[in-house]
Amino acid sequence: MPFSSPRTTLTQYLIEQRRRYPHASGRFNNLILDVALACKAVARAVAQGRLADMHGLHVDSEGVRVNVQGETQQKLDVYANQTMIEMTENSGHLAGMASEEMPEPWQIIDRPRGKHLLVFDPLDGSSNIDVNMTVGSIFSVLRAPEDVIGSGRDVKAEDFFQPGSSQLAAGYALYGPSTMFVLSVGHGVAGFTLDPNLGEFMLTHPDIQIPPDTQEFAINASNSRFWEPPVKRYVDECLAGKTGPRGKDFNMRWIASMVAEAHRILMRGGVFMYPRDTKDPAKAGRLRLLYEANPIGFLMEQAGGRASTGHQGALQLQPQDLHQRIGLVFGSRNEVERIERYHAEPQPLQWHNPLFVERSLFID
Ligand code: F6P
Repeated sequence: MPFSSPRTTLTQYLIEQRRRYPHASGRFNNLILDVALACKAVARAVAQGRLADMHGLHVDSEGVRVNVQGETQQKLDVYANQTMIEMTENSGHLAGMASEEMPEPWQIIDRPRGKHLLVFDPLDGSSNIDVNMTVGSIFSVLRAPEDVIGSGRDVKAEDFFQPGSSQLAAGYALYGPSTMFVLSVGHGVAGFTLDPNLGEFMLTHPDIQIPPDTQEFAINASNSRFWEPPVKRYVDECLAGKTGPRGKDFNMRWIASMVAEAHRILMRGGVFMYPRDTKDPAKAGRLRLLYEANPIGFLMEQAGGRASTGHQGALQLQPQDLHQRIGLVFGSRNEVERIERYHAEPQPLQWHNPLFVERSLFID
């Protein structure tokens, strides 16, 4: 294979970004590099799969574990969570961490504490692990509250309750046909591909932009009977295609791995919906605000797209719980804004008529 011209590494990219902040200490860059290192270790474990006995449920002395979400933990969930902690907690950059797999914040013990909070979903889309489909790790970096930095006290859940708009950085690693690391430090979005020979993430997708319009949507249509009328209306209009009010045909996708759907949308546009629905009235939605919606929403908006609950911008939401769920819509800006408009419009009478359900294109 011919040698290609030299590419920018993740480290070089971060140094370039830091030049915008001459007083920055470089600690922030080291934190991102620690996260990237953890992702490389997880990528290797995901790739080895059964060969490394990495598939199946995690079983320890207490049997099969169920996380705070009520989901059974898989071996790779536990491995990815542990790896993210081990690769980042020694560095002195963190005041604390929170993860999908841990009910309470993780304290940095017997080590120097830093100014940042790391929030992560160690392995998103884990129902896909055993069938060798794409999964990923999602992360978000926040500044710790000033009194945490000043006193070095233990972190509390409330310290993480910051709206997505205050994230310092967010990103994900995608364990797909190639491993990618997609990052925003607040100045656009850049994508890096892991060069397995060098063990380095190389800049392959500078300045990712989401087209404002799209003809592709992603939703779990098996939930259609639980959707709220504005979502049903939007999907019905897409399905009606050229002959409907949109006047164009749409394509549909569903990977059941939100991070993979987000990646597709960053690459070629589209809209993703896991809206609030009536399936389980105790849950406001399926996806978690702090470690799924906020980091992915940050990337979407940094790439010119939008993330919303359907009613308001997702990044403006004030979190109230570490594991809070929300309804989420993200992707191409004009489509997300259309869905928001449908939510804001007074609902036509027909939406209140139960017979309308019979006329839906998603008849169960
Ligand atoms: O974290 C939740 C998640 O795994 C997402 O990655 C994905 O979009 C969704 O759940 C899949 O949900 P469902 O099982 O309803 O298709």
